[in-house]
Amino acid sequence: MGIAYFNGNFLPKDEIKINPDDRGFLFADGIYEVVRWYQGHFYDIDSHLLRLKRSLKELRIIWAEEDSFPYLARELITLNELEQQPSLVYIQITRGVAPRTHDFPSPAVSPTVYAFARNFMPDSSEIENGVDVLLKKEMRWSRCDIKSVSLLPNTLSFQEAKEQGYQECIFIRDGLITEGTHSNIFFVINGSLFTHPESEHILSGITRKNILRIAREEGIPVSESAVPDTMIDNISEAFLASTGAEVTPVIKMGDYMIGDGHPGPITKLLKEKFQTEIIALRD
Ligand code: PDD
Repeated sequence: MGIAYFNGNFLPKDEIKINPDDRGFLFADGIYEVVRWYQGHFYDIDSHLLRLKRSLKELRIIWAEEDSFPYLARELITLNELEQQPSLVYIQITRGVAPRTHDFPSPAVSPTVYAFARNFMPDSSEIENGVDVLLKKEMRWSRCDIKSVSLLPNTLSFQEAKEQGYQECIFIRDGLITEGTHSNIFFVINGSLFTHPESEHILSGITRKNILRIAREEGIPVSESAVPDTMIDNISEAFLASTGAEVTPVIKMGDYMIGDGHPGPITKLLKEKFQTEIIALRD
């Protein structure tokens, strides 16, 4: 079961009791973060902390101890004896417990903070050989930049993709390809790298940011502009980027085969460079 963090204490997970009037439970009124532990170091936890603070600010949730996140995360790794294992830490902060009304509790209540660590390894054959993705009309709200726990459209769409044999679902909003249910997406068109610009229609992924940096360091032309779904024929390579999937090639989008159906050279290069950074963290 493991040791989790709950409102200031580290305790066995099965001893944690969530109040049914928690606004996270009633309204999905909260935010979350996920950070990877690579046997010795977190990957870019500073950026995860910054995004956590931004999400809290956007929802006007005040967690006075927000700067303690890296410490909490590290403590969870130690307490669960995960130092030498590929793992992740999940943290969720909700507005807290209050009788159910749509407006915020007044006076404000303490937020509910819950975090756990667990063993995690992405699917290495997907990272090596690539995945197929479903394309679907966007059904999410207009503030996808907030890492909110309100993820029903994401879970429903991911489930639909899985039931149809796909490994991710990619959304199309007003004719533009945005991102996946739990990943950002990149394309190679005529040798340049494209991904949706930061906006309220995507989550600003930490992996996305670091891949853009690596691509620029490698001299690959980069364009942060959205690709219309009508340009699908022009795409020679595609890949997903996320904390969980790292860089995972996409070899099929709906019925359309990307390139020759194998991960392309720019994808492979970025994947290798990203993995080199991870290995450097570990050593
Ligand atoms: N998901 N877009 C969405 C909608 C996401 O949920 C995620 C991450 C990303 C990629 O962000 P990052 O590179 O910072 O992980 C993009 C996490 C991992 C999750 O929900 O488990």
